[in-house]
Amino acid sequence: MIIQKTSSSRLESFDQENYSFGDHFIDHMIICEYDNGKWGEAKLMPYGPLSFSPANMTFNYGQACFEGMKAYKDKDGQVFLFRPRKNFERINKSAKRLAMPEVPEEVFMKGLKVLMDVDRAWIPYGEGRSLYIRPLIFATEEGLKARVAHKYMFAIVASPAKSYYTAPVSVKISDYYSRSASGGVGFAKAAGNYAAAFYPTQMAIEEGYDQIIWTDDATHEYFEESGTMNVFVRINDTIYTPPTSEKILDGITRDSFIQLAKHKGLDIRVEPVAVKTVLEAQKNGTLKEIWGVGTAVVTSVFKAFGYKDQRFELPVLADEDSYALTLKKALVDIQTNQAEDPFGWRELV
Ligand code: COI
Repeated sequence: MIIQKTSSSRLESFDQENYSFGDHFIDHMIICEYDNGKWGEAKLMPYGPLSFSPANMTFNYGQACFEGMKAYKDKDGQVFLFRPRKNFERINKSAKRLAMPEVPEEVFMKGLKVLMDVDRAWIPYGEGRSLYIRPLIFATEEGLKARVAHKYMFAIVASPAKSYYTAPVSVKISDYYSRSASGGVGFAKAAGNYAAAFYPTQMAIEEGYDQIIWTDDATHEYFEESGTMNVFVRINDTIYTPPTSEKILDGITRDSFIQLAKHKGLDIRVEPVAVKTVLEAQKNGTLKEIWGVGTAVVTSVFKAFGYKDQRFELPVLADEDSYALTLKKALVDIQTNQAEDPFGWRELV
């Protein structure tokens, strides 16, 4: 790997108390270029802008996918990545679906480790704090012919993070817009999936909600995801989450929640979640919780949901009675090395 470090860190001038998600970046980044059918040597270099023509194929045809992952610092200053190999596997699934070259494991894993090592001082310590890491692959070729590009870049940038949502949010169950469709790219972390979600989300915000619960494109009768998260519903003492499919992102936090719930002996079922079932449970008082999970948010508790023109408030539970918050705590304790890790999820760097 080529190493080119900055001689002047920006850490001193970074206000570690006042910042918001994704607004500040650590001193360095990793880049690796793909050309002539192969990946070149990866490079660690100072974080900063790169220059591309407006005719760049990513800007025009959207060949771009990314990952979201985190590094945590424990009280002794040790740094851990959380299940990084899962992100490696998923970025390549996304790349494959977008007809982009898969990134070699060595480039991905070594890039992460070198970056964490060089910018260790940037990794925040404390409640809700982590370093959010964004690996991405995108086309770099200039050209307007609508075809698969021949040149790409793999990059890793990272940003100090605090809790994403601090308060419970309200969500609108979509009965019209879809996040994904059969045969589409819903399972991939394709940049375009996020772009396509913005307009319906804006519509939901105008109606007084924070996020959307995405339903299936064919019938809008089944939950798929929520906002940029996977979704969980608790009816009485049973937790439900929809099975992943070509339309649903195979979330690493989702998988961790399922494993943790099983480990704790909770009744968790991975099965289709019908809007009708949720509405009935709301009506008869058995609907206890709905929440979203994802790397950035970890867990977002929902306080209310809307369906068509009705709005329903969800029960307010004490933290210890909430499955969402109990599982969140168990997960964060593992991520931050405050609890045993029986699953082998932490990776010391
Ligand atoms: C993540 O949780 O990593 C995501 O992908 C959400 C992000 C779009 C903020």
